[in-house]
Amino acid sequence: MRVGILTGGGDCPGLNAVIRAVAKSLIKSAGAEVIGIEQGFLGLIERRVRPLDLRSVAGIMATGGTILGTHNKANPFGYFGAGGADVSERVLAYVRELGLDALVVIGGDGSMAIAHQLAEKGIPVVGCPKTIDNDLAHTDRSFGFDTAVAIVTEALDRLQTTGQSHGRVMILETMGRWAGWIALHAGLAGSADIILIPELPYRLDEVARVCREREARQRYTLICVAEGAKPEGGGVTVKERIEDSPEPVRLGGVGNVLRAQLEPMLGCEVRTTILGHVQRGGPPTPFDRVLATQYGHAAAQLVAAREFNRVVVLKGDRIESVPLADVAGRSRNVPADHPLLRTASDTGISFGR
Ligand code: F6P
Repeated sequence: MRVGILTGGGDCPGLNAVIRAVAKSLIKSAGAEVIGIEQGFLGLIERRVRPLDLRSVAGIMATGGTILGTHNKANPFGYFGAGGADVSERVLAYVRELGLDALVVIGGDGSMAIAHQLAEKGIPVVGCPKTIDNDLAHTDRSFGFDTAVAIVTEALDRLQTTGQSHGRVMILETMGRWAGWIALHAGLAGSADIILIPELPYRLDEVARVCREREARQRYTLICVAEGAKPEGGGVTVKERIEDSPEPVRLGGVGNVLRAQLEPMLGCEVRTTILGHVQRGGPPTPFDRVLATQYGHAAAQLVAAREFNRVVVLKGDRIESVPLADVAGRSRNVPADHPLLRTASDTGISFGR
């Protein structure tokens, strides 16, 4: 068998661990030949591939980023390099020319949507869920999330001591797009006093009330706010629009907005830290290395069994797979009845409501 592998969309810790597991499993257990496609779908459009042998995937488990490179705009069904034209037939011909029996796509909802379209055109695809945001449908965990949570948690630990020393309100803004998974998990782990997530629009006066109450008691307050958080009746804070991106809206800046609003309402100083891409870089945690390896192995098994057009997912502690069509272009928010919300509330964390 000849199998192509690509990493699409934004990068995330654990991508190399998946590439390694897919390549090793396919080469060792199925005697397959593995072809690395560079810069996501761009490599298929611009004909940039290279062979991946056991040597080329050695020693990459702990390395952040992706050895193949990625691209968050390249889409064969609307290629920016051809004025947005559909170049999928060209891609199809190239896949045939390469003699690929299957394509492993490691990506988020956008990449899965493209993979699904390619599958409908006849390319046998297996998907693997990637994103620090943990917002992919039908999977309890995407790899990269645990690492992002660890980074945010460490930042909160550090902000707590400096906030405590100065008697300040410290705001930490996390990534996460339209979902609050990172802020919820890290906020809990990092002892945030207030967690603000998109799924639970907050009331500014309630956030200020909690800060004032803590000012009188503890002198400092730690707020963990997801970039997609918004006030009741209000909208999200948009950082920029990247028009040629499949998802043009980039969120960011709600932490600064909150600071400007809160400071005049409180008797203390307020400071904001926006962590940004620090959450996506560097080595994956041991949990993400294990999960990424399990996903890569499971994807290789699907390929070897010729079970195509499926995505590997985590359900509880079991790796399973679901149809690509069920995942493509879908996302997953924190449900209102998620047990962590109750745990957080019952242990004194405010959601600003
Ligand atoms: O989806 C991952 C993510 O890091 C989001 O949390 C964030 O909103 C977005 O990507 C940032 O995108 P970019 O890397 O294009 O700035």
